[in-house]
Amino acid sequence: MHWNSCNNLWLFFMAEQKIKVLMVCLGNICRSPTAEAVFTKKVQDANLETRILVDSAGTGSWHIGEPPDSRSMQAAKTRDYDMSSQRARQVLPQDMEQFDYIYAMDKQNLHDLWTMSTPELQHKISLFLHQGNSNYEEVPDPYYSGGDGFELVLDLIEEASDSLLGSLVSRHTLI
Ligand code: 4NP
Repeated sequence: MHWNSCNNLWLFFMAEQKIKVLMVCLGNICRSPTAEAVFTKKVQDANLETRILVDSAGTGSWHIGEPPDSRSMQAAKTRDYDMSSQRARQVLPQDMEQFDYIYAMDKQNLHDLWTMSTPELQHKISLFLHQGNSNYEEVPDPYYSGGDGFELVLDLIEEASDSLLGSLVSRHTLI
């Protein structure tokens, strides 16, 4: 086999081997795209982008194709997270097969994901804030509350992302 084909095969194998993480909220315009941006940056800072793939989606369909909420993007930008290229999409049944870890931002999202999933795949789905030691179990929805809600979303997501990265690194011996 030519070296280039061999190399391509290896790259394909590595892509297939990536640990796939899906962040889920209701609209996929505030909390889960923020979680995608924050966790992606932490993965990149740890030089693990060839090993971990991060995506996000919403249980609802209202905002499909839209960029994240401008208030989320602005709050994220002040902490150096870029959300500008993201576009909302809805969770698909095949996401349950394709992703290894699926994190719900709140208990309603968790319930909706469990309902969509088959029993043998439900072990992949959990509350994002069960990563870490937060006093919060859910990431509060900032869409209608506004104000400091967007800062709280970032605080909670940053802490959970640090814990998640640590646990993936040790569980999958990544470093
Ligand atoms: P998210 O916030 O679930 O964090 O993206 C929401 C965005 C939109 C709506 C609700 C929550 N909505 O009702 O349109």
